[in-house]
Amino acid sequence: MTAISDRSKVVIALPLAQSLVDQLAAYDLTVLPAGRSEEGVFEAALAEAEGLLVSSNVIVDREVIAWAPKLQVISTMSVGLDHIDLEAAREKKIVVTITPVLSDAVADLTMALMIMLSRRICEGIRAVVSGRWSEVSLGSDLAGKCLLLVGFGRIGQAVARRAVAAKMHVQYVDTRSGLPVVDHVERVGDLAKGLPDADFVSLHVDLNAETRNLMGREEFKLMKSTGFLVNTSRGGVVDQAALTSALTEGTIAGAGLDVLQDEPPHPDEPLLNAPNIIIVPHIGSATRETRSAMAQCAVDNLLMGLRNERGPFEVT
Ligand code: 8YV
Repeated sequence: MTAISDRSKVVIALPLAQSLVDQLAAYDLTVLPAGRSEEGVFEAALAEAEGLLVSSNVIVDREVIAWAPKLQVISTMSVGLDHIDLEAAREKKIVVTITPVLSDAVADLTMALMIMLSRRICEGIRAVVSGRWSEVSLGSDLAGKCLLLVGFGRIGQAVARRAVAAKMHVQYVDTRSGLPVVDHVERVGDLAKGLPDADFVSLHVDLNAETRNLMGREEFKLMKSTGFLVNTSRGGVVDQAALTSALTEGTIAGAGLDVLQDEPPHPDEPLLNAPNIIIVPHIGSATRETRSAMAQCAVDNLLMGLRNERGPFEVT
C-alpha cells in the first residue's frame, strides 16, 4: 500500500533545474514538464495541490483552477499574466505571483529589433551571403528619431532609458496614473495623438480585453509610412491581418516582432512572408542570466505563498 504523504503538494508544470527542485524538497512534488498538454495528468495532479509553478505557455483558466480546490498560490515564471484567469484566482483567494526580473533583457531585444530594422541588417546579411556585398540601400539613424512607447511599466521604462541614451525623442502612452517621471521622456494623451509623430512604435502592455488588437488597421494608417512597429509584449496586441496588409501596402515601413498570436505560427501564416518583417521566436527573456533569475524568483514566490508570507511580486 502506498503511504499518503502529509506534506503539502506542489505541482511544477515547467522545466526546472534540479538545484531549484531541491529548494522545494520539503513539499510533495509532482513534476509535469508538459503542463496542460497532458490534460488528464494535470487535472489529477492538481486535485490535492496547494502550490502550482507554471510558465506563460501553461494555460491556467477557470476550469484548471476548479481542478485545484486546495490551491493557495500560482507562481508563474513570467511577467505576462494572460495565461491565468485572475478573476477566477481572486474568487478562490489564490495568490498569483510574477517574476518581473526580465526588463533589461526585453529592453535589449527591443533596441536590437529597432536597430535591425533601421539599419537594414537582415538585408545586409542576405546581400553578403548572396554575393551582393555593395548592394544594400542606406538605413536611418536612431538619433533624432521619435520613439512612442505604448505602455510605460518596468519594460517600457527600461527601453526609454536606452532610447534616451541613443539620443531619441521618447514619448509614451499609458492609461495608468502614478508612473515615474523620467528625464527627457514625455507623456502623450492617447495612442491616436502619439502615432502620427512616431518613427518607431514599441509595445509594452499586458494582453487583456482592452489591449487585444490595439494596433489595427486604423492605427497603422495613423503611422508614418516610414514608421516601424516593434512588439516584444504579446502577439494578441497586434491585429496580424492588419499588420500584414500595412506592410504589403507600404502603410508602414517595417515591423520587428518577438511575439505572435499563435506560437509557433501556422506555417501558412501570411505575416511570415510579409515584406520588411523580422520575427524572432519569443526570446525577450531568453538569456542565461535572466531565465535563471526568473526561475529563482518563481521558486521564492512559490515558497512565500505556501508559507502564507506576503511577497513583493503578488498580483492578486
Ligand atoms: C517568456 C514572457 O515567454 O515573462 C513573460 O511574460 O513572455 C517571457 O519571459 C516566459 O514566460 C518564460 O517562461
